[in-house]
Amino acid sequence: MATGIPIQRFPWADEAPSSIGSSSISNVPNKKWRNWLPLFVALVFIAEISFLSKIDMAEKANLVNSWADSFYQFTTSSRSTTELAVDEAELGVLVSEVDQGLVPGGCEEWLEREDSVVFSRDFDKEPILVHGREQTFNSCPVGCKFGTNFNKKSDAAFRLPRQAGIASVLQSMESAQYYAENNITLARRRGYDFVMTTSLSSDVPVGYFSWAEYDIMAPVQPKTENALAAAFISNCGARNFRLQALEALERANIRIDSYGSCHHNKAERVDKVEALKRYKFSLAFENSNEEDYVTEKFFQSLVAGSIPVVVGAPNIQDFAPSPTSVLHIKELKDAVSVAKTMKYLAENPVAYNESLRWKFEGPSDTFKALVDMAAVHSSCRLCIFLATRIREKEERSPKFMKRPCKCTRGTETVYHVYVRERGRFEMDSIFLRSNDLSLQAFESAVLAKFKSVKHVPVWKEERPQVLRGGDELKLHKVYPVGLTQRQALYSFRFNGDTEFKNYIESHPCARFEAIFV
Ligand SMILES: *[C@@H]1O[C@H](CO)[C@@H](O)[C@H](O)[C@H]1NC(C)=O
Ligand SMILES: *[C@@H]1O[C@H](CO)[C@@H](O)[C@H](O)[C@H]1NC(C)=O
Repeated sequence: MATGIPIQRFPWADEAPSSIGSSSISNVPNKKWRNWLPLFVALVFIAEISFLSKIDMAEKANLVNSWADSFYQFTTSSRSTTELAVDEAELGVLVSEVDQGLVPGGCEEWLEREDSVVFSRDFDKEPILVHGREQTFNSCPVGCKFGTNFNKKSDAAFRLPRQAGIASVLQSMESAQYYAENNITLARRRGYDFVMTTSLSSDVPVGYFSWAEYDIMAPVQPKTENALAAAFISNCGARNFRLQALEALERANIRIDSYGSCHHNKAERVDKVEALKRYKFSLAFENSNEEDYVTEKFFQSLVAGSIPVVVGAPNIQDFAPSPTSVLHIKELKDAVSVAKTMKYLAENPVAYNESLRWKFEGPSDTFKALVDMAAVHSSCRLCIFLATRIREKEERSPKFMKRPCKCTRGTETVYHVYVRERGRFEMDSIFLRSNDLSLQAFESAVLAKFKSVKHVPVWKEERPQVLRGGDELKLHKVYPVGLTQRQALYSFRFNGDTEFKNYIESHPCARFEAIFV
């Protein structure tokens, strides 16, 4: 029969030739079966081999495991031994993990090696490119270029509308009360990805302060002026009560020398800071009362050693070098009591001097930590921020998700976490142990790590000599990478060891930033 041949030759062909006779129909299924049989047997055979080899390998792994239990037992963070045994590809990984446990150095060395997945972008070779005015700043810890003429697509640009793949960044040092577009919420709504304003809640804060711009520890000079306070206010109009506050102080018989055009009564042209040094008080009246909006008026008063009387940021105390160093007119009605305090301090040299004690003994750690932020140029901080985002994105890819990030030996688990200093880019490894997963142990580990590499804080060359200290390192804050500076400096803290422990357990390869003072 001619019809049998094509069927034999093509056993997968369902269609019988149309010329097939009814007599041969009963034969067809039989023949099909017979023809399929060798293939079926082959499949079963292959399946069996792989099944047996799986059992074999699983048993091997179990054997090695139980034997290794008393030494080091390694497990990956989310997958159990049996789950691994099911997957041949991963089984190989398990066996090699167990082998690594026998290497001296154990968990730490093994984690250091297994977790060090290489990022696809090397910022030394492919720097962060920001479309914008060229910037000159000292070396940045991450490759960082500003300009308008790149032969490659930039990573970010100071403009809207956003172009695909290019982050749009808003940068401004004006208050959002004057320029509503600087309000972070509104800026994001308009399409900006990242915001750089004076707000410490912005992505990359740009403050008026820095050690470089202000000689904050300049010595106090004798207060030789008859007037109690000096004012340099050029514009009486403002979106707050600063004019009324000025008038209220005058009504309370505070003698004020006003060099600016507002209530102008001093005609001399003077160097502002040099003039302020001769006054006991300086009216640091901002044009808006906005959180973190603290301008040169305040910092120049600090340089001059003239106690700032502030109308402005409701949180001005966050910017004070010591708790008693600033007088704050929070609301207009406070002007009367502030006037009283000014008179009291003016007549009591010891009390007055106490308010300037920070000039002799140094400002608080909180103040140092704030001003140190500016030790790294804001443009460089933008690059660090963008590069960090790029890395975080890649860390969510499968090759990074596979990192073990922890390791078990006996009853103890070793957690691999990363830490860098604020203002730096690359991370260092530290290891935490499950039997002492406390905040104190964490902070000790961070300090020990940085001490062991003789770390030089990023602010070392920036701070005035008297505030540089010796070689000692003091940890001021350590917080998860990604928090705003407002959170990092003022509001964030782990609520005890349990919260910290939960954080470490639920964030494999957690990354932190440390602020030293
Ligand atoms: C920004 O705008 C939002 C929404 O309009 C508002 O709730 C917030 O208070 C504003 N922030 C500042 C700093 O003005
Ligand atoms: C103020 O106090 C410092 C020490 O805190 C002292 O050295 C200085 O002489 C005092 N100045 C006056 C004017 O009392």
